[in-house]
Amino acid sequence: MQNRLEMAEWISQIDQKAPLDLVIANAGISNETGLNLREEEQVRDIFSINIVGMLNTVLPIIQPMKLRHRGQIAILSSLAGFRGMPSAPAYCASKAAVRSYGEGLRGRLLNDGIQVSVICPGFVKSRITDANDFEMPFMMKADKAARFIRKGLINNRARIAFPWQSYLLVRIISALPLSWADKWLSRGPKKI
Ligand SMILES: NC(=O)c1ccc[n+]([C@@H]2O[C@H](COP(=O)([O-])OP(=O)(O)OC[C@H]3O[C@@H](n4cnc5c(N)ncnc54)[C@H](OP(=O)(O)O)[C@@H]3O)[C@@H](O)[C@H]2O)c1
Repeated sequence: MQNRLEMAEWISQIDQKAPLDLVIANAGISNETGLNLREEEQVRDIFSINIVGMLNTVLPIIQPMKLRHRGQIAILSSLAGFRGMPSAPAYCASKAAVRSYGEGLRGRLLNDGIQVSVICPGFVKSRITDANDFEMPFMMKADKAARFIRKGLINNRARIAFPWQSYLLVRIISALPLSWADKWLSRGPKKI
């Protein structure tokens, strides 16, 4: 609650000084692979930061953008948000929630002059991926990922998903019967 009020106040102050054209709800956490002694706490942190943190960023700017009939909002989801993976159930669930919210919000704000995009990256080099001790296919450098995101936002894409190889893979996995994919996916690394 405290974070929520502080964020709303901060965003409001900034917006009054210089109206915000673009707000990107980027904050998010995952967790390191391996034995975890505070698993329950980490599950709760992942849901709280990835979902409530996104709401704390997005909700305060909607009304000011509505009044101006102009603005753009981007929400960081992930390709992990297309299927609950045994490797990271909490992270996948949190990213599925923000994706679904962003997709709905886009249509909801269509007539208010506000553009909403959901960003779904695969593996991108960052502190999150630096903590992983497993092979990450189609890993992308941050500046290349930033160029994809920039282009997608300029074109007001509903979903900015990349790289295409990983996107195709998760779409195939999420189309498989659940029990088939479970057997295969549960052999992977274990995060939260
Ligand atoms: N890297 C990937 O492969 C990948 C793939 C798909 C989606 N994503 C998503 O991309 C976003 C950025 O992640 P990243 O890969 O760039 O990882 P990162 O380097 O760890 O950056 C995470 C960002 O979240 C902020 N953050 C974390 N906890 C916070 C909290 N409690 N309150 C406020 N800010 C908080 C961090 O702020 P500080 O700098 O102040 O710590 C940092 O700016 C996340 O939403 C992540 O889930 C990443």
